[in-house]
Amino acid sequence: MADIESVLKESRIFEPPSTFRQAAHVKSLEEYRALYRRSVDEPEAFWGEQAESLRWSKRWERVLEWDPPFASWFVGGCLNLSENCLDRHVATWRKNKAALVWEGEPGDTRVLTYHDLLREVCRFANVLKALGVVKGDRVGIYMPMIPEAAVAMLACARIGATHSVVFGGFSAEALRDRMNDAQARVIVTADGAYRRGAVVPLKANVDAALAGAPSVENVVVVRRTGEEVPFHAGRDHWWHELMEAASAQCPAEPLDAEHPLFILYTSGTTGRPKGVVHTTGGYLLQASLTMKLVFDVKDEDTYWCTADIGWVTGHSYVVYAPLANGATTFMYEGAPNHPEPDRFWRIVERHGITVLYTAPTAIRAFVRWGEQWPRKHDLTSLRLLGTVGEPINPEAWMWYHSVIGGGRCPIVDTWWQTETGAIMITPLPGAIATKPGSGTLPFFGVEPEVVDKDGHAVPPGAGGYLVIKKPWPSMLRTVYGDPERYVETYWKRFPGIYFTGDGARRDADGYFWIMGRVDDVINVAGHRLGTMEVESALVSHPRVAEAAVVGRPDELKGQALVAFVTLQAGIALNEGLRAELKEHVVKEIGAIARPDEIRFSEALPKTRSGKIMRRLLRDIAAGRDTIGDTTTLEDYSVLARLREEEE
Ligand code: PRX
Repeated sequence: MADIESVLKESRIFEPPSTFRQAAHVKSLEEYRALYRRSVDEPEAFWGEQAESLRWSKRWERVLEWDPPFASWFVGGCLNLSENCLDRHVATWRKNKAALVWEGEPGDTRVLTYHDLLREVCRFANVLKALGVVKGDRVGIYMPMIPEAAVAMLACARIGATHSVVFGGFSAEALRDRMNDAQARVIVTADGAYRRGAVVPLKANVDAALAGAPSVENVVVVRRTGEEVPFHAGRDHWWHELMEAASAQCPAEPLDAEHPLFILYTSGTTGRPKGVVHTTGGYLLQASLTMKLVFDVKDEDTYWCTADIGWVTGHSYVVYAPLANGATTFMYEGAPNHPEPDRFWRIVERHGITVLYTAPTAIRAFVRWGEQWPRKHDLTSLRLLGTVGEPINPEAWMWYHSVIGGGRCPIVDTWWQTETGAIMITPLPGAIATKPGSGTLPFFGVEPEVVDKDGHAVPPGAGGYLVIKKPWPSMLRTVYGDPERYVETYWKRFPGIYFTGDGARRDADGYFWIMGRVDDVINVAGHRLGTMEVESALVSHPRVAEAAVVGRPDELKGQALVAFVTLQAGIALNEGLRAELKEHVVKEIGAIARPDEIRFSEALPKTRSGKIMRRLLRDIAAGRDTIGDTTTLEDYSVLARLREEEE
């Protein structure tokens, strides 16, 4: 019996368009394979050569020191990340190139050239110094998606302060816990943030959090919304006042390659948030190389990653990797459906976005809102699309491909994690043919494997646990203040091998298919099913926009399969549809996956980064009260509504 059974059948395949291929950084499968071989046969030589593309103030002595499970990359080397993102380009023709193009939710825009951005970063670095921040201190960042957020991150990197960005949608309590764990000395925030036309009171949340976070001595506040906010004399400062007084000269501090760049908290399911620690050299290298090869970024691109800087995707692919490549990164402040559901497409048209990187949850929302919204806009500037964050259901992939990509844009489905720091499994768009729902092949230097519960590789087609066998440059180094937890969480299950927590299968072409989190696997009469495959079967029904499946305890079968389904906008509910959907799943993947119960719902409970919280759905399906942490839930009313909607 397989550890996780795979039941999804998907045979569509899309070759890279030849015009795309010709201009791409990596142009063929053969080229990919040759480079990949070298990267895993001689990883230190490979990464050492790649690292030549960065600016180092002191060369490394050894590429890798591996004391399992603790890795040091580019040992003895010194560099500065902000220097690599800014000074390096300001010394070239890129000085007056747009580094950051920004649009606020109300429609205001700003453009910062590399020269502008460097000056802002230097000034804010001097502000931090003036507040007493020194190398190694932690700085909290709790901000809207405005250029100052990127400036604050880069300024920390410039002086060697370790930043910890907390998503601006998190509550005061969540902020307090994170600031306490990190022992932050300063918080950078704003008076408020715009969200769907309303104002999120960031400064008020900071005030509430600081009542229980005594390490924070100073708060710097950007004026964004202009609301009145209380000010604590001596502790609170306006950003614009401090910046006015600050010099625009600030030398980049040479930092050890292993200097901690940031701590980013992942909520985990229970208990204390986990502070994932990333360091400087290896992180920058893998982030910038994936940016170049996966997004095939060129100087002419206007690249937009829609993630919030509060998530790792925002760290790596809104700020650091695009800037390290001298690219133009676009940043948007607000919601995708404000004032109307075509906001993203309006932005693509207005700014001539060429590369768009977003999440499956957003794509499924667009599908639900209807294709009339993207159809209103000229999307022909787009040349490449990306997704990240969850498995993408093949039908959502097809919609993205045809409606947004006009059938001409490759899609890079990039698998990675907060812990991996950068992309790990992904197509290279000019080299690797794509299959809807598959992240395809490993990136250079990455050695993933699908194994059974004893850690043995499973044959092609079989499901199992996704592991990474060798260290990689952008891997997390530890859990902040808790190395035990680092070992326990990631390296205990399969000794000496990194466990991702995901289920996956590899097909006969060596392509990886992520089946969802292992904790979400459903055991129906001895068949262990991953969530993604059953959900994809439901989403392939023309009336379904989104689905989440969970197990409910069942005396006969072990678990019964309960499906929560959101229909396309405007579809009326009827009993016939329930039976039809059950039969549809049987037809798509077989009787073992037939849902025992289908519940229709206007919305599904999601984290603020858009992931479906199946843990909460399990409680609802079992009729239990919700236990455990719900602080990451985006919309609390969803739970109450779900409880009312029995089959
Ligand atoms: O389950 C996988 C899913 O998201 C998890 C990592 O989440 P987080 O740390 O929040 O980082 C998200 C952004 C990198 C993974 O363990 N996941 C992420 N990308 C994909 C994915 N599942 C399938 N396909 C993906 N492309």
